[in-house]
Amino acid sequence: MKLTSEQQKMFNGEMGDAARQSMEILVALGKIYGAKSMIPVTSAQIAGVSYKTIGDAGLEYLQDMVKGGAKVRIPAFLNPAGMDRAQWKQMGVPPKFAEKQIAVLDAYKAMGIGMSCTCTPYLVGVRPKVGEHVAWSESSAVVFCNSVLGARTNREGGPSALAAAICGATPNYGLHLDENRAASVFVEVEAEVKTASDFGALGAFAGEASKGKNIAFTGIPKAAATEDRLKGLGAAMAAWGSNALFQMKGITPEWRLADGAEKISVGKKDISSMKEKLGNESKPQLVTIGCPHASLGEIREVAEFVKGKKLACQLWVCTARQTKEKAEREGSVALIEAAGGKVVADTCMVVCPLEEMGFSNTASNSGKAAKYLVGMCRQKVTFGDLQEIISFKK
Ligand code: F3S
Repeated sequence: MKLTSEQQKMFNGEMGDAARQSMEILVALGKIYGAKSMIPVTSAQIAGVSYKTIGDAGLEYLQDMVKGGAKVRIPAFLNPAGMDRAQWKQMGVPPKFAEKQIAVLDAYKAMGIGMSCTCTPYLVGVRPKVGEHVAWSESSAVVFCNSVLGARTNREGGPSALAAAICGATPNYGLHLDENRAASVFVEVEAEVKTASDFGALGAFAGEASKGKNIAFTGIPKAAATEDRLKGLGAAMAAWGSNALFQMKGITPEWRLADGAEKISVGKKDISSMKEKLGNESKPQLVTIGCPHASLGEIREVAEFVKGKKLACQLWVCTARQTKEKAEREGSVALIEAAGGKVVADTCMVVCPLEEMGFSNTASNSGKAAKYLVGMCRQKVTFGDLQEIISFKK
């Protein structure tokens, strides 16, 4: 690979151990994927933050990086952690877990990484422009970034995103290149899709059917394709098919169809059987909204729905801390709390230790959460729109 003189210095260890180790990771990745050079990136979003997912080995790796002098040189921020930093006790997070989680966050902080722990950086001011190159690692943020914003990122692993943050560059391959951004699967949506659960089910269906390929959708009305719906669609696609890019004619910034693209139709029956598959349990102990992290509009919608009522079970609305602060200022958080719910920041239903906190049956309106609540949190799942999954005391 062709390196600039500064990148070569990092590789040679002339800029410290952490920079050497990071450049080695990036060069090794570049060699595997046939990159000819590095490309500068303007931001890094780093997964591998919850102690639940990285464990002691991950924590030691981060602490070693700090000892090796690791410092980020571009704006870098974190994926959700395993708990809300302000209200972990009220959430019921075990103290031993909290202690380890704080150590993980301290290590990232020591490297100069911002403490906003969210999978929706694009809702809290980090919105790369069309064609801008970044190194993001959370799968739902990656697909949103490539598809809705038209910026460019591969799906980085936690260590490679951290390496990109330390070196300011990433290997130039995959979705950074024009030739890899065409859609090779063409999905004709014949069913009417409107609600969060419709888009979640569509994303899960399309992801599962396309197995990671880039998708071009037709048949979705522009009025229905709001940012909130597209973030839910992309997250479900990434969870069920590892997809990192979709396009919609007249809605997303790019529309490139590969010659001979495979065609798939999605009808009403496909959506309803996917909804069944996403979870048809009942009587949840906990209802969770905000996967990906809820926007201000989504928090308002919950607040309006629960206003003046008493919830029949626990409710968490997961969001970025900055979004929660806005929702506090306008009164939405107070309405949700008055009904008996919580607005939870810095974390989410999947990466917190839900299974250690006494929950076994959880509801969600997200096609991504519905998958991971089963596999990562040992939950039975109820899937549906918030009006279907939230119930009130009689
Ligand atoms: Fe975000 Fe957690 Fe869902 S990281 S996309 S809220 S699983």
